[in-house]
Amino acid sequence: MTLSPDAQSPVVQGFFDPATHTITYLVSDPATRQAAIIDPVLDYDPAAARTSTRSIDTVMAALKDQELTLAMVLETHAHADHLTAAHHLRETRGAPIGIGRDIAHVQSTFAPMFHADDVTPDGAAFDRLYADGDTFTLGELTVEVIHTPGHTPACVSYRIGDAVFVGDTLFMPDYGTARTDFPGGDARTLYRSIQRLLGLPDTTRMFVGHDYLPRGRIDFRFETTVGEQKAANVHIGGGVSEDAFVAMRQARDATLGAPQLILPSLQVNIRAGALPPPDANGRRSLVLPLNVLGAA
Ligand SMILES: [Fe+2]
Repeated sequence: MTLSPDAQSPVVQGFFDPATHTITYLVSDPATRQAAIIDPVLDYDPAAARTSTRSIDTVMAALKDQELTLAMVLETHAHADHLTAAHHLRETRGAPIGIGRDIAHVQSTFAPMFHADDVTPDGAAFDRLYADGDTFTLGELTVEVIHTPGHTPACVSYRIGDAVFVGDTLFMPDYGTARTDFPGGDARTLYRSIQRLLGLPDTTRMFVGHDYLPRGRIDFRFETTVGEQKAANVHIGGGVSEDAFVAMRQARDATLGAPQLILPSLQVNIRAGALPPPDANGRRSLVLPLNVLGAA
């Protein structure tokens, strides 16, 4: 018997990365044990410029323990605060990497900044490019792609049965929403994307991409529901108007500095997590463009 998408319920495990406050999700179909990893983290020590797979190794150990099969890697967007381990999973496990098709715009913005001549601005660094409304299967589960731009132009959310993975759109109700001041970001667009997510059934389990402890909370959390967000999200709950949201979001964004890992993250993440090509000596290097980000 095939269940309707609303009646499907994936098994969801979140893995919190304390260095970047990112949650990587291991999502699986209980019937077939097929799994997806959403937003995997590649550890990066900026002082030593050294990468490590410690975080994703933990996720893969859990996958192995539960006898799951990795079917795919899903990215909600090109992250600016951590490097993605997607390419590592493609290399080591053969998993294809999916992302929103507007990643091409993000690549065309950032590839020149990083002299990333190997990156064609067409999404070809990824394996699957999703448009709004696309559906595909994970085992017997249906995955629906919802284009949710605003934080970046290419952000997507993945709805899998009674769960939705929203990346950096909404955070936990007591923290609010994502910043919209990166190139191609837009507060009004984010508001409209969030309204689409809040149009899902109230009982939909919502999994957020980051948690930063707001004042008054001592434990990290990353699961809420559409109903809780609608009622209580401090930025958008209780029917906040679009204009009020935009004014709040833009005022708050004006106070935010660049994320610590934005420069290494973007040049790796527009390559789906592949490191830049090696030079004649076999050495790979990141570039640090001066005076292009942050306030003058
Ligand atoms: Fe982000």
